[in-house]
Amino acid sequence: MTIAIRAFDPGSPTAATDSEAAAEVLRAALPYLVVTPRTLGWQVANSPAAQHHRLLLAEEDGRLVGAARTGIYYDSSEPGQAYLNLYVHPELRGRGAGRALLAAGEAYVTGLGARTNFCWSLDDEHSIAFAERNGYRRGRSAHFQRLPLTDGSLPPLPPVPPGVEVRTGTSFGDDLREIWAADNETSGDVPDDVDPAPIDYDVWLAQYWEHPEHDRELTSVVTVDGVVAALSFAITDGASRYMSGLAGTRRAYRGRGLAKLAKSSSLHRARAAGYTEAFTNNDAGNEPMLAINRWFGYERCATEIRWVRELTG
Ligand SMILES: CC(C)(COP(=O)(O)OP(=O)(O)OC[C@H]1O[C@@H](n2cnc3c(N)ncnc32)[C@H](O)[C@@H]1OP(=O)(O)O)[C@@H](O)C(=O)NCCC(=O)NCCS
Repeated sequence: MTIAIRAFDPGSPTAATDSEAAAEVLRAALPYLVVTPRTLGWQVANSPAAQHHRLLLAEEDGRLVGAARTGIYYDSSEPGQAYLNLYVHPELRGRGAGRALLAAGEAYVTGLGARTNFCWSLDDEHSIAFAERNGYRRGRSAHFQRLPLTDGSLPPLPPVPPGVEVRTGTSFGDDLREIWAADNETSGDVPDDVDPAPIDYDVWLAQYWEHPEHDRELTSVVTVDGVVAALSFAITDGASRYMSGLAGTRRAYRGRGLAKLAKSSSLHRARAAGYTEAFTNNDAGNEPMLAINRWFGYERCATEIRWVRELTG
C-alpha cells in the first residue's frame, strides 16, 4: 500500500470531488462535527494569510482515506503555535495514512517557523497510542455532547427578565461592533491550551460572522438595557445538524442566567427551522458551561484530547 499526500487546491478541476471526499472522511472519523464540503474549500481559500491554512489529503491507490487540517494559530497570544488535526476513515486505520499525514503536516508547519504543534484526537486506545508513539504529551480534554431536538427533550425557554431582550444576529444589520467586542472578551475566557489574542473587527467579520456555516438568524444575542451582554453562535449544515459556536456572557453580566437564555432561544429557533440534532463541545473543566448543557439535557457522546509537541526543526 502506498499512501500519497497532496494539498487540496480550491482551483483544481478535482476540487469539488476532493472536498466531498474529505468531508466524508471527517464525518466518519468524528461524527459529532458539523462539516460540509463547502466549508473545507472556503477555509483554504479564505483563511487569513498569517494562518497558512492547508487541507492535506491522503490517498491510497487513488482513494481518499484521510485528511488533515493544518496551519498556524494566527490569533494566539504566543507566536509559533501550529495546529494539525488528522482524520483517517475508521475502517482504514492502521495502514499508514495517519503517520503520512502527521509527517507531512509537521514538515509543513515547521517550514513556516512553528515551534509547538497541537493536535486533537479522540480519547480512544488507538489514537492515544498513536499520539504517544509520535512524541506528543497530553494537554486539556473536551467533551462532545448531543441533544436530540425531535423528542421533546428541549426545556421551555426561560422567562425573560425586565430590561432584557433576546435578539437574532440578523437584527443587528451591519452594526456588529458590540457583538465583536463581546465575542473577543468572552472567547478569551474559554479554558484552552492556546490563549487567543483579541482579533481585529475586519478579521472577525470575515472569519466568524461571514463563515458559510454561521446561521445569523439562529444566532442569539441578549441585551440588558440595550447593551450586548451575552451571545450564543449557531453553526449548521443547512440540513439537520446544529452545532453551538461560542456561547459567552460578558464578565459584568455572568451568573444571571443570560447564557442559558441566549442558547435556549437559539436552540428553540433551530428546532422550529427543522434541525433535528444539536451538538456542542466544551472543555472538560468549563463547569458553568457544562452545567448549562446538563440543564438542556445534552448527553456526552465522546471525549477528545489535545496533544502537544515541541517541534525541533
Ligand atoms: C460559561 C458562561 C457562558 C456562562 O455564562 P452565564 O451567563 O454566567 O451563565 P448562566 O448564568 O446562564 O448559567 C451559569 C450556570 O453555571 C452554573 N455554575 C456557575 N459556576 C459553576 C461552577 N463552578 N460549577 C458548576 N456550575 C457552575 C450556575 O449555577 C448556572 O447554572 P444554573 O442556572 O443551573 O444555576 C460564561 O462564564 C462565559 O462567558 N465564559 C467564557 C466563555 C465560555 O467559556 N463559553 C463556553 C464555551 S463555548
